[in-house]
Amino acid sequence: MKSILGLDIGSHSIKLIEIGQSGNSRTLLAAGSIPTPPKALQSTLDADHQAVAAAIKQLIKETGAKANSVAIALPESQVFTRVIEVPALSAHELSSAISWEAEQYVPLPLDQVNMDYSILRDAKATGTDKMDVLLVACPKTLLEKYLGIIEMAELIPVAAETEIIATSRALVQSVANIKTAVLLVSLGAQTTDLAILRNGVLAFTRSIAAGGEALSRALISGLDFNINQAEEFKRTYGLEQDKLQGKIVAAVKPIMDTIVGEMKRALAFYAEKHKDERVETILLSGGTAKLPGMVVYIAQNVGIEAQLANPWVGITRDARFRVLDGEGPTFTVSVGLSLRDF
Ligand SMILES: Nc1ncnc2c1ncn2[C@@H]1O[C@H](COP(=O)(O)OP(=O)(O)OP(=O)(O)O)[C@@H](O)[C@H]1O
Ligand SMILES: [Mg+2]
Repeated sequence: MKSILGLDIGSHSIKLIEIGQSGNSRTLLAAGSIPTPPKALQSTLDADHQAVAAAIKQLIKETGAKANSVAIALPESQVFTRVIEVPALSAHELSSAISWEAEQYVPLPLDQVNMDYSILRDAKATGTDKMDVLLVACPKTLLEKYLGIIEMAELIPVAAETEIIATSRALVQSVANIKTAVLLVSLGAQTTDLAILRNGVLAFTRSIAAGGEALSRALISGLDFNINQAEEFKRTYGLEQDKLQGKIVAAVKPIMDTIVGEMKRALAFYAEKHKDERVETILLSGGTAKLPGMVVYIAQNVGIEAQLANPWVGITRDARFRVLDGEGPTFTVSVGLSLRDF
């Protein structure tokens, strides 16, 4: 059985998954997480990157993961990802026209980014004279930093992609029965990433700087909690209206309004482009999705059915991994990475 590691280096925690693949069968071989050394990812110092690499090595040891090849996630907030419309061109024509198209969208000089693109829907599929192309541009400095960390951890990088692309690969199995569209929302510590999948194909992506840390900060300033209290109250009571006379919900409401607002904007954008279709459901992933009451809050405030993401669909897991049943949202990105073709 062949396998690669899926490594999701988040601002709050590092998640590792190893899935073995053989034919159509997929088996979970290793899984685990470890806290990210504080502030180490924002740093440009070698010593801080060494600390991240040491954490990765520790995690590999703890989980017993075997593969040396690794697919990594890049932070959505620092990578430019967009579904763009371009005139119908042949693959060859597009390869020479893409830089010109990219210049209109990418906010950095093109010689400072690694760019990649793929045709999501050709003109036949869109039924117009345009096609949908996924454009990804990653600052070279960002990629170098992550590759440096991987090298320090003595692993071989074989692929790098953004969190939301890994998320969509992880969840495509579980949305196979949803005919039209689904909104994926990955609620992390520092960012919330959104994507709309239409028949399993990306139709929209966005990232905003609001997540679990912003919710904790709102509790610190609104209710005079210290950081530990904020974290504890958040995890215990979450967004349940009837807890603590609704004080927690009231304190975090401005942050939740931002997140809900972005989801509504994504849905409005989709409705404008696909007039006869609607997004049927919302799948929530990331550690912050586990906040008590989050699913109900999102469903009520966005007005669409919502559920927690389950990346374990179609993956065989033996009894020792049963503890991960409720941890699907946390491991969604790393599962998607480990499922990459290689
Ligand atoms: N049970 C829980 N209830 C509420 N919040 C939780 C729970 N478990 C984790 N969190 C929150 O989830 C966040 C961590 O989630 P995750 O591991 O997805 O973040 P990350 O990937 O490290 O961050 P990012 O992707 O933003 O860099 C933290 O803010 C943490 O407080
Ligand atoms: Mg994350």
